[in-house]
Amino acid sequence: MTESLTIRRPDDWHLHLRDGAMMEAVLPETARTFARAIIMPNLVPPVVTGADAAAYRDRIRAALPEGMSFQPLMTLYLTEDTDPADVARAHAEGIATAVKLYPAGATTNSASGVRDFDKVRAVLEKMAEIGMPLCTHGEVTSPEVDIFDREAVFIDTVLDPIRRATPGLRVVMEHITTSHAADYVRANDRGLGATITTHHLIINRNHILVGGIKPHYYCLPVAKREEHRRALVAAATSGDARFFLGTDSAPHPDHLKEHPCGCAGCFTATNTMPLLAHVFEAEGALDRLEGFASLHGPAFYGLPANEETLTLTKSDQPTTFPAKIDCEVGPVTVFDPGFPVYWS
Ligand code: DOR
Ligand code: ZN
Repeated sequence: MTESLTIRRPDDWHLHLRDGAMMEAVLPETARTFARAIIMPNLVPPVVTGADAAAYRDRIRAALPEGMSFQPLMTLYLTEDTDPADVARAHAEGIATAVKLYPAGATTNSASGVRDFDKVRAVLEKMAEIGMPLCTHGEVTSPEVDIFDREAVFIDTVLDPIRRATPGLRVVMEHITTSHAADYVRANDRGLGATITTHHLIINRNHILVGGIKPHYYCLPVAKREEHRRALVAAATSGDARFFLGTDSAPHPDHLKEHPCGCAGCFTATNTMPLLAHVFEAEGALDRLEGFASLHGPAFYGLPANEETLTLTKSDQPTTFPAKIDCEVGPVTVFDPGFPVYWS
């Protein structure tokens, strides 16, 4: 028995490619499947200016293996010193697609992020004026806020005030993990979208902690209760165009994941589309996978959908995915959903 599903070639609206040897190892994993990706700017040092983004884009293009087609869509890392004119220039010249907001200290390499939101007011106003989206890592960082509540508190105390103060600002709530976030998207009509990762559709917090700690399931925002995972599956499979795929595929070498202070990130670039086919099929929503992975994202960003196609096939034998991707700095573990997947 072979079933198949052909959809327009998908894009990844949230991806970590890193740099150097790691980028060379992981870029083909994405480019094999995805036509375009929004590239996260949290390098060390971060990608802050238009010139930084152009140089990083050129390094990505140079690392792309012969015969593969892939377009990196660059983002600028918002700092309290970001120059609105530089942002506007990078956007007008087609160098930067969006700006990324990391609250300082929220996650991997976010030390240069924003502490005082008044200091980025002029940049946000310029972005609203030119229609350039803001991608948000939506977690507060105050030590007194419980890690499982950080997304909900961010929505109430940071995101909603920013959006009220900056009418017209287009915002992507990246990698949402709660029903609160999905409800906030639904309650706010224009100019607001959300990406959902592959792994947050599959794991809840028990997967990380029950029966021994699983460092390869640790990411930020951390996976929440099962009821929240269900809410994300409902949003992703609903057909609502405000929800689209952003894998947040975030490679770290194994020795830094399997460590007393392990890095956050799940590496899903290799097997995302088969995993999504599994999730959507289980919901009776295979016909909505194309919207989530290939249509809603371009529509939000005002870009055409891809003309090429991707065919997913289902067989009666479980698909074997590589357990690890080799890299000069150490192997990178591919996300293991913990159940057999029959799509490839
Ligand atoms: O799990 C994560 N890993 N979440 C992020 O926000 C950053 C990412 C990374 O860069 O490793
Ligand atoms: Zn990310």
